[in-house]
Amino acid sequence: MAESMQGLHRSHRCTEVSNTLIGTDVTVMGWVAKRRNLGGMVFVDLRDRSGLLQIVFDVNDIGEEGYEKAGTLRSEFVIAVTGTVEKRGGAVNENLATGDIEVRAKSLRILSEALTPPFPVEDGITTRDELRLQYRYLDLRRPELQKNIMMRSRITMLTRRFFEKEGFLEIETPMLCKSTPEGARDYLVPSRVHPGTFYALPQSPQIFKQLLMCSGYDRYFQIARCFRDEDLRADRQPEFTQIDMELSFVDVDDVIDVNERYLAFLFKEVLGVDVKLPIRRMTWQDAMDNYGSDKPDLRFDMKLRNVTDVVKNCGFGVFTNAIAAGGTVRGINAKGEGGMPRKKIDALTDMAKTYGAKGLAYMALQEDGSVKSSFTKFLTEEETQALIAAMDGQPGDLLLFAADKNTVVWAALGALRLEIAKQQGLIDKNEFCFVWITEFPQFEWSDEQGRFLAMHHPFTMPMEEDLPRLESDKANVRAKAYDIVLNGTEIGGGSVRIHQSDVQERMFEALGFTKERAEEQFGFLINAFRYGVPPHAGLAYGLDRLVMIMSGCDTIRDVIAFPKVKDASDLMTNAPDAVDEKQLEELCLAIDLPEKD
Ligand code: AMO
Ligand code: AMP
Repeated sequence: MAESMQGLHRSHRCTEVSNTLIGTDVTVMGWVAKRRNLGGMVFVDLRDRSGLLQIVFDVNDIGEEGYEKAGTLRSEFVIAVTGTVEKRGGAVNENLATGDIEVRAKSLRILSEALTPPFPVEDGITTRDELRLQYRYLDLRRPELQKNIMMRSRITMLTRRFFEKEGFLEIETPMLCKSTPEGARDYLVPSRVHPGTFYALPQSPQIFKQLLMCSGYDRYFQIARCFRDEDLRADRQPEFTQIDMELSFVDVDDVIDVNERYLAFLFKEVLGVDVKLPIRRMTWQDAMDNYGSDKPDLRFDMKLRNVTDVVKNCGFGVFTNAIAAGGTVRGINAKGEGGMPRKKIDALTDMAKTYGAKGLAYMALQEDGSVKSSFTKFLTEEETQALIAAMDGQPGDLLLFAADKNTVVWAALGALRLEIAKQQGLIDKNEFCFVWITEFPQFEWSDEQGRFLAMHHPFTMPMEEDLPRLESDKANVRAKAYDIVLNGTEIGGGSVRIHQSDVQERMFEALGFTKERAEEQFGFLINAFRYGVPPHAGLAYGLDRLVMIMSGCDTIRDVIAFPKVKDASDLMTNAPDAVDEKQLEELCLAIDLPEKD
């Protein structure tokens, strides 16, 4: 017996009804959040995306029939109510925007009845994620998620407004692309017209935006969907959204300038937060040396210290062997943790091991001046004191050391730094700490592939002074690449691009491409650059990550309307799923699953 609109019009959203409307009639529509009966009166909390509004069905206003109908309302029924705004009869609810008023109903329509939802549609529920995602449309009704999704919408609207004002054009790029297996794994789409061939979904609009610069569009931006078949984490989804841009006739500082103004604009408009400009810049080398990470959380200090020189001649083989093998010894000082129980130190050691460390050496400085340690028995008293001094150790501090190749030491200590700060409550949730990380290495050695890979992508311009090293000393070539980091999350990254075809050719060669393979995969780009291309540079933000931090969420799932879970499936629609035999035949595809063990 669901009724329909039949000439009825909503006059206000729930929280648009305010005490300035007292005495006037309104028509509101939404979901029943709660119903209570109180002798002759039915109270309903009505919910829409704006919030809650109290409705009173008094038998004296609405009559016997309406009153009875109100008595049948249950949670999540969709209703329309026309009534008069009045000052609230009972106690004022300070927690509600509409807490001092109520609507005395004169008529009620039940637009839709509802089954009892599998979990309460309210904030702060502890329902397991799987159930919430299976009923995502109900989860999305909860005020917490509605707030996130609405903030996301506001952010994209403001983004468009900002970049339009700055002279950027919004241009769409294709979703069905050519596969270029550099970077993450591609999602493939089989072609029916050309059996046996595949499109790839874009990992980013990178090549197209560079071609748009070649075509003279000057300043491009797009809110672009990207696809990467990689292992999911709290800040990664297989499909995600970038705020993508590219600019012509620019260098690093120009890109940074417009983006700093964008971030300041966005944070002011959305959160009322003043971002102090210019944003701090830090070279990649400094970030690694001091924080063990290229996305340092600068809301707290606890820097890494390199003590290789201090311990290089000591009697502790773990240290000296690592140094002899070309590694380093570095430490962090967990202030005031000298009394940490052995069990907790062991847990930190286990954590360090997940980052490849073979162990964790510790020195717990006791208040009485003595030292509890896993390794000082191998050191002379002078060596011990020198190490404490190098770590700025005070009585009551806990010093933690890792010895290994740099990449392992950085990763392990960088992670411990974060973990200890979390345990100590050093991280202020209300602070926004931005930093640009610059001068990234151009290349990154892959043990797996036995060759250098591009750290950003093969179109990134090396720093001019490092160009001569492109062939002879790849490990020390720095790129004109930059990341923007917020509170320890990489929210965006970009680079100046190579626009000279000779440099691009050298780059492909440095990356181990044969001329033929470079031609086959990127021939159109190399060719395009032979017809006049401006110097250009760009950047892309991960929109989901940006919204996650601005809304104070811990996972990007909470800012994406229909996200996927860890194994990349959608629990609501059950994608991915098998398809009809006929569909496969059309595509000339056969399924050959490996046998399950
Ligand atoms: P990059 O690969 O660094 O650069 O991506 C840019 C930003 O996108 C976000 N991001 C992700 N967000 C959610 N889930 C994922 N799986 C995911 N992967 C990346 C990150 C990242 O900083 N074309 C270049 C940009 C350029 O050079 O202009 C690019 O895609 O926040
Ligand atoms: P071991 O000599 O293996 O008993 O190690 C002595 C101490 O050094 C233990 O506390 C180990 O956890 C620690 N340790 C072992 N390997 C490393 C390493 N690569 N870096 C730092 N500490 C280590």
